[in-house]
Amino acid sequence: MKESRIEVAVDPPYEVVVGSELLAELGVFIPSGTQRLMILFDPAVAGPVPALVDSLRKDGFEVHLLAIPSGEEAKSVGVAAAAWQRLGEAAFTRTDTIVALGGGSVTDLGGFVAATWLRGVRVVHIPTTLLAMVDAAIGGKAGINIEEGKNLVGALHQPSAVLCDPLMLETLPLPELISGMAEVIKAGLIADGGILDVVWSGPQETLQASGPLLTELIRRAVAVKAEVVAEDPAEYGRRAVLNYGHTFGHAIEQVEHFQWRHGDAVSVGMVFAAEVSVRAGLMDPSLLGLHRELLSAVGLPISYRGGRWDQLWPAMRRDKKNQGHTRRMVLLEDVAKPVVVRDIPEELLREAYQAVSAVPDASPYPTRVGYALESPYGLASYIPPVPGREASFPGSEEFVQPQEDL
Ligand SMILES: NC(=O)c1ccc[n+]([C@@H]2O[C@H](COP(=O)([O-])OP(=O)(O)OC[C@H]3O[C@@H](n4cnc5c(N)ncnc54)[C@H](O)[C@@H]3O)[C@@H](O)[C@H]2O)c1
Repeated sequence: MKESRIEVAVDPPYEVVVGSELLAELGVFIPSGTQRLMILFDPAVAGPVPALVDSLRKDGFEVHLLAIPSGEEAKSVGVAAAAWQRLGEAAFTRTDTIVALGGGSVTDLGGFVAATWLRGVRVVHIPTTLLAMVDAAIGGKAGINIEEGKNLVGALHQPSAVLCDPLMLETLPLPELISGMAEVIKAGLIADGGILDVVWSGPQETLQASGPLLTELIRRAVAVKAEVVAEDPAEYGRRAVLNYGHTFGHAIEQVEHFQWRHGDAVSVGMVFAAEVSVRAGLMDPSLLGLHRELLSAVGLPISYRGGRWDQLWPAMRRDKKNQGHTRRMVLLEDVAKPVVVRDIPEELLREAYQAVSAVPDASPYPTRVGYALESPYGLASYIPPVPGREASFPGSEEFVQPQEDL
């Protein structure tokens, strides 16, 4: 497989490399000046670790290892403290480098430990889930969970390199792979219609770790994230568009006590956002149909149970992406035309929820899209990335709610 290198043009810039057999070349991607390496890894992906350690030692590095708990449990103060202790014992200096090998839980923890040790050491991410390859490992957001909530303690700390080897996904359970596809399709919807074409050309084939379609999707989704992050590294503006589907998705995650996979919640959240976009007069209903078609074609959920508005609504009002009293939500006018909208009336959101909680076929909108895909990139007319724009929901003044402290 030919290797692709996608630059994330922040200061300093770094590369996301997509290709096979990257672990064997890890030494090449370790920042210069490094003497010691601390590899934080998820035991679920421990298979290649012994060979990796051998090759890094041959390259002259002093290598330390720390296995951390699989999944969300990695993101705790206790695990971070264990890592700090090991770094202390290894006399880890400012010029040494942490390697995070695992899914988004490990890259979030590894990034956080790197950000905090000696006020910041370098970190190289080797994501092993689709979600981490196209999202979590890129962009520098790192953090851990505390009892009061998820991701509440964190830092913005860009990695020195991100290595994505799609073959690492061969052992990933299918539901995890499918969950990651939600972020891939999100990248298509907000910025690159070509992604939607690739998914549409073979929804089942895209789920094969060693297949060319998945590699193409990873490259394209990485390019979208890299471009948005470079334009707005600290999330003052455009980066908000990456939250398409996340307002309702985060609310589902909270109501379900984080028992839903992130991507699954975002999938339903995107259908919700599309329902809102159509009701707001911004989106053509056929694009809502496209959401349902594409997401279900790869096995993602597109509906959420009814009768939960009283829990979902407060969760949406507490969303971290809100600013002060202003609620913000990303909607779509068209493929690659995201728009950030403020203070959408509750009534409209509730209607959208009712549509999402009805059986999918009962939607008033067509689920079968009218887009004929004549060429592999038949949606090309939708491609040009458009910067996220701030807009007020038309007529929102009429619906201004009395604001409470959130
Ligand atoms: N920093 C960001 O910008 C950002 C963005 C999105 C999500 N996140 C975070 O990412 C986390 C979720 O990440 P995730 O979805 O990658 O899940 P994860 O890291 O929790 O991994 C999911 C499961 O897959 C297993 N696993 C990982 N790679 C495997 C492989 N190759 N083979 C077999 N099993 C494997 C893990 O052990 C775990 O059981 C959340 O904590 C979320 O908050 C961060």
